[in-house]
Amino acid sequence: MERDDCHSATLTHPFFHELKMSRAQRIRCIVLGSVLFPLRITLTALIFLMMWPVARLRSAGLSAEERSRPITGWRCWLLHPIIKFLSRSAFFCLGFMWTKVKGRCADLKEAPVLVVAPHSSFLDMVVLPLTELATVVSRSENTSLPVVGALLEFNQSVIVSRTDPESRRKVVAQLTERLTSGGYWPQMLMFPEGTTTNGSSLIKFKPGAFLAGVPVQPVLLRYPNKLDSVRWTYKGTSWMETLWYTASQFYTNSTVEFMPVYTPSEEEKKDPNLYADNVQKLMAKALGVPSTDYVMEGRVPVNKVGGLSLPIDSPARDSLSLLHQSGLEAHDVEAALVRMIDRCQSGAQGSKCSAEELASILGLTDAQTAGSICSFYSKDESVDLRQIYFSVSAVSGFVSFGALLHTAFTLFDPEGSGSLSAEQLSGLMGALLGFPQHRTADLYSQASEEGQLTEENLLRVLTSHPTYQKVVKEYLQPEEEVGSQLANGKAVNNNRNTLNGQGSIQHKKSE
Ligand SMILES: *[C@@H]1O[C@H](CO)[C@@H](O)[C@H](O)[C@H]1NC(C)=O
Ligand SMILES: *[C@@H]1O[C@H](CO)[C@@H](O)[C@H](O)[C@H]1NC(C)=O
Ligand SMILES: *[C@@H]1O[C@H](CO)[C@@H](O)[C@H](O)[C@H]1NC(C)=O
Ligand SMILES: *[C@@H]1O[C@H](CO)[C@@H](O)[C@H](O)[C@H]1NC(C)=O
Repeated sequence: MERDDCHSATLTHPFFHELKMSRAQRIRCIVLGSVLFPLRITLTALIFLMMWPVARLRSAGLSAEERSRPITGWRCWLLHPIIKFLSRSAFFCLGFMWTKVKGRCADLKEAPVLVVAPHSSFLDMVVLPLTELATVVSRSENTSLPVVGALLEFNQSVIVSRTDPESRRKVVAQLTERLTSGGYWPQMLMFPEGTTTNGSSLIKFKPGAFLAGVPVQPVLLRYPNKLDSVRWTYKGTSWMETLWYTASQFYTNSTVEFMPVYTPSEEEKKDPNLYADNVQKLMAKALGVPSTDYVMEGRVPVNKVGGLSLPIDSPARDSLSLLHQSGLEAHDVEAALVRMIDRCQSGAQGSKCSAEELASILGLTDAQTAGSICSFYSKDESVDLRQIYFSVSAVSGFVSFGALLHTAFTLFDPEGSGSLSAEQLSGLMGALLGFPQHRTADLYSQASEEGQLTEENLLRVLTSHPTYQKVVKEYLQPEEEVGSQLANGKAVNNNRNTLNGQGSIQHKKSE
């Protein structure tokens, strides 16, 4: 399932959506939208306001202990139909007048979990009333939103927190408990892609829904409309545009197809990743789109190759083009890189540094460029200089890959043992790629011999193993191959020109 060319990925990844509209469609949207949008949003808001107290009532007055069990009784049979009716009405008001249904939603005993794909936007919740409001998995940020938070509580959702390191383990335990409860907990609904795409391919499924090894029902969600307005992805159309263009149509077609229940084989039960991959392929085939190895890690879209996470927008290439844009010549960049590695090697200050320090190392007067570079690499205030040094050096071609690997190896093997541990290898690959690497076990086993991972073996695997060779070529070398791996002045110049024209840092969605 590996992509043939990881590099052209920059152009073909499915995390980008742009509405292509003719002039006539644009005018139509403005005219219809100015009438329909306010009307629809007002009605939907009113319905949401009505849902709020009803949703709250469901868990009102219950102890935490009672809430940790499935809610039963009047709170269920009375409030459930009301919420179902109101949520259907909300979508009706937004233009989802009817939803075409193919197949039949499996009952809880047949399939404790429904896996829905492709995930297009928050409007995908249109599927919920058709599935008797199956329980969803959501992020903890969502619970603080007005109304939505109350509805999530209503659904007794499983909440994932990005900040709590314990959260992952808790969620896995909670999911397993619910999915294997034999009918005690209600049915669950999951979007195994974990993020939204433009639907041109199915991205890698997260194993969550497949961990328990129970049967799943694949559900296909399609929006067969002339204007594909319902999508909201990492880049491109904003959520406001999604809402505006969807509300500006007379109606929006939606189709939900319940596929036959998929029962895992013994092998799939043991290996949730295999199970997830097989269901992904099955659903992609039914949709007539390719299945790919893209995933969202943190908030960054990456391609998975040989266990490595390769960010689609290379932080190193983006940094380099930004440096050139802010007037640094190739030799300035080279000098700055030398200052960086000197500081890392001196060991006195450690490798973490703030945006201001980075600005001074780079010899920049404005802190903004340095701040942007920091943000390519890390989400917090400080950045690991080793990541910047190695990743930028690799793509700038000032030093050969072999020489760079030698420097990295020495830095990540501070005891000078001549061999790296699995953890040190993961740090080294993270520095080279400019992105944390958590799954370097495959690479480690390929490159180690009798528990020893030497520089020589690592270089051999990285430059001759078909998978890793490709990674090095596409991600750890200058854009244009200039024949020799050894950089010379000419190579640097060529490189600069191509990078200047790249400009892939635009349109980054501000989240
Ligand atoms: C969706 O992504 C594909 C690449 O996978 C791209 O070719 C296509 O133009 C994108 N569609 C839209 C509508 O942006
Ligand atoms: C809630 O979180 C999920 C991810 O689990 C996301 O797809 C969805 O858009 C969020 N909903 C809202 C209303 O923010
Ligand atoms: C939970 O159930 C309500 C009730 O219909 C539904 O509207 C809502 O979208 C569901 N999911 C979430 C994420 O709140
Ligand atoms: C909805 O689907 C029908 C075909 O099933 C199509 O003729 C119609 O144009 C679609 N509506 C929109 C708004 O795209």
